[in-house]
Amino acid sequence: MPDISDLTLEEKAALTSGLDFWRLKAIERLGVPSIMVTDGPHGLRKQAGESDHLGINASVPATCFPPAVGLGSSWDPALAARVGEAIGREAAIEDVAVVLGPGVNIKRSVLCGRNFEYFSEDPIHAATMGSGVVRGIQSQGVGTSLKHFAANNQETDRMRVSSDVDPRPLREIYLRAFQGVVEDTQPWTVMCAYNRVNGVYASEDPFLLTEVLRDEWGFDGLVISDWGASNVRVDGVRAGMDLEMPSSGGITDRQLVDAVRAGELDEADLDRAAERVLTLIRRANERAAADGALDVDAHHALAREAAGRSIVLLKNEGGILPLAPTQKVAVIGEFAEKPRYQGGGSSHINPTRVDVPLERIRAVAGDVAYAPGYVLPEAPEGIGMSAVKAPKPEPSVVERLRAEAVEAAKGADVALVFVGLPDEDESEGFDREHIDLPAEHLALVDAVAAANPNVVVVLSNGGVVALPFADRVPAIVETWLLGQAGGSGVADVLYGSVNPSGRLAESFPYRLEDTPAFTSAPGENQHVRYGEGIYVGYRWYDARRMDVAFPFGHGLSYTTFSYGDVAATATGDGIEITVDVTNTGQVAGREVVQAYVSVPGSAVERAPRELKAFESVEIEPGQTVAVTLTACARDLRYWETRADRWILEPGDYVVEVGSSSRDLHGSATVAIAGDELVIPLTRDSSVGDAFAHPVAGPIARAEIASGPFGAVMMSGDELSPMGRDMPLNRVVSFGVDAGVVERILAAGA
Ligand code: BGC
Repeated sequence: MPDISDLTLEEKAALTSGLDFWRLKAIERLGVPSIMVTDGPHGLRKQAGESDHLGINASVPATCFPPAVGLGSSWDPALAARVGEAIGREAAIEDVAVVLGPGVNIKRSVLCGRNFEYFSEDPIHAATMGSGVVRGIQSQGVGTSLKHFAANNQETDRMRVSSDVDPRPLREIYLRAFQGVVEDTQPWTVMCAYNRVNGVYASEDPFLLTEVLRDEWGFDGLVISDWGASNVRVDGVRAGMDLEMPSSGGITDRQLVDAVRAGELDEADLDRAAERVLTLIRRANERAAADGALDVDAHHALAREAAGRSIVLLKNEGGILPLAPTQKVAVIGEFAEKPRYQGGGSSHINPTRVDVPLERIRAVAGDVAYAPGYVLPEAPEGIGMSAVKAPKPEPSVVERLRAEAVEAAKGADVALVFVGLPDEDESEGFDREHIDLPAEHLALVDAVAAANPNVVVVLSNGGVVALPFADRVPAIVETWLLGQAGGSGVADVLYGSVNPSGRLAESFPYRLEDTPAFTSAPGENQHVRYGEGIYVGYRWYDARRMDVAFPFGHGLSYTTFSYGDVAATATGDGIEITVDVTNTGQVAGREVVQAYVSVPGSAVERAPRELKAFESVEIEPGQTVAVTLTACARDLRYWETRADRWILEPGDYVVEVGSSSRDLHGSATVAIAGDELVIPLTRDSSVGDAFAHPVAGPIARAEIASGPFGAVMMSGDELSPMGRDMPLNRVVSFGVDAGVVERILAAGA
């Protein structure tokens, strides 16, 4: 690989934008090869032959693993890493240098059309799962692209909208997931988002791309633009956006050359970007050619395992599940025959094969009855993005199908009703407008439940949906989008060869109106204000003490677990939490042990509890496993806006351990020494600030308490709220001597 000084100005500029939709440019005279990057994230989407300009041509067959909404529900980063390894292997076989994923954006709004591509409403969860995927893919000598950096939480107006986020939520919620993955796994590349963040395009934001990503987090890879996200190219290079994708047809390369020649762009900035591209190419070239062909069966088997692990058993009254193969079952709902197993858009995989739930159920239980119950709209061609909604079937057809389904249900021991969101309801490129299931699906559930109370609802959806029937059916199985082996995964769980262990990585609200971003997303006039602040997802419902249909972290098993006492110790690098968990049931199962932390006396706003650590553990019946979780100091800190830095607040931390955010079995309190935070006093500081200051505090107390201000504004040693909030530059009007103020300020400077 040449040195940057071997390249001409034009060659350097050329390197910083794509050759075409998927490839980088070669420099033949210097032996620099062209490398290819492709989507991601839950499988390989490598377009066959020439790439078109929209990236929608058919792609080579690849294993379609569960999208992040599914895999994230496993709460198991080791499983994510195994899936990542398989994707990396497929990429290596196809000679792909970088897989464009994973996506760790936070599910801020339940309406975001791309929520199926993201892991969670919680940053620690998203970071942990994203790190698993990155580790796995990169273990194969293939790079990743952590996306979409940052605050890309809706599809509406995604190429222009400004996500207006205050510093604390930005740091503690939206950037934290990226920070965790970058610091823990060093992805080869980070993909900047389309949108603006606080008014600045992510593709040209020096704060995000250089100050935070590189200077604070130590990222040493390449920043790549989302496809078409580059705005003003020269500004982008200056800010730290190294590679523009896809090709700009040479236009922006020339702009860079001209800017350097005109003295508007420092050549060192361009050198830095081009050098990072060279480093990426060098890294990609270090991978030995993959030997052997793709083991389609082995990867399909892994996809099946991952699918089973992604399923969340929301409800199972009376132990109606698992089913016995001898039970007479009616399968209802066209999703059982035409499964929806991935979302539309750039992540759309051309699967090596597809398991159909109905067939897989029949393989276990024989020739069960089947009735489609409704008509699904035709699946869109290409990458599954539908531009127009399909016409609705005639009411007579709808009624006939429903009547047939009811008949089938009547004769069965159990009715399995498959309902969900068709492709046209959610996809990359647009947001949903509501969280309702299609009306025909809801009517079908009600009609079947009226005919046969033993209903198991099986859901297929990429984002949360309202479940108005939740109290009227005994069992609900959330299968999300499960990838190509989902049909087998569902049958495995329904018939108990897999004991469900998925947990919700997003809360299920009762109503759209209950959700945190309801009044602010998608915003207007190209601005969306993140007005709920740090109260995203369960933080919101907990703070407002709102009921939800199913809480964050929830998921049932076919066995039961009991918890011992929780112990927590401060380790210097965080909190070590230990608890014994026993499988008290009859079958082996996995429990996802979750640790939530709160800081009751905190000086800053806090959510009632925040997930800080979790572990998925396999436990045999009767067995007790000692589980150790680590809540690391980094993740316990809050962003202190007055000092512009992270602070581990000194004080008592309460650790609650449980099976969900609302099923907590025990807690322990641990004292954390924390960081010293001394905010220098200014004239705008309050009397309360002065009292709290380690040096100025004693002076302020002594001088103020004895004077007229203290007489009115204090009771004993305590300041009244009015006195506490009074700025130092005003207290002279209320009887404090000006000299006293100066002495306090001098001591607190
Ligand atoms: C998406 C990215 C994707 C890229 C390439 C964009 O539209 O936002 O997630 O990696 O296209 O297909």
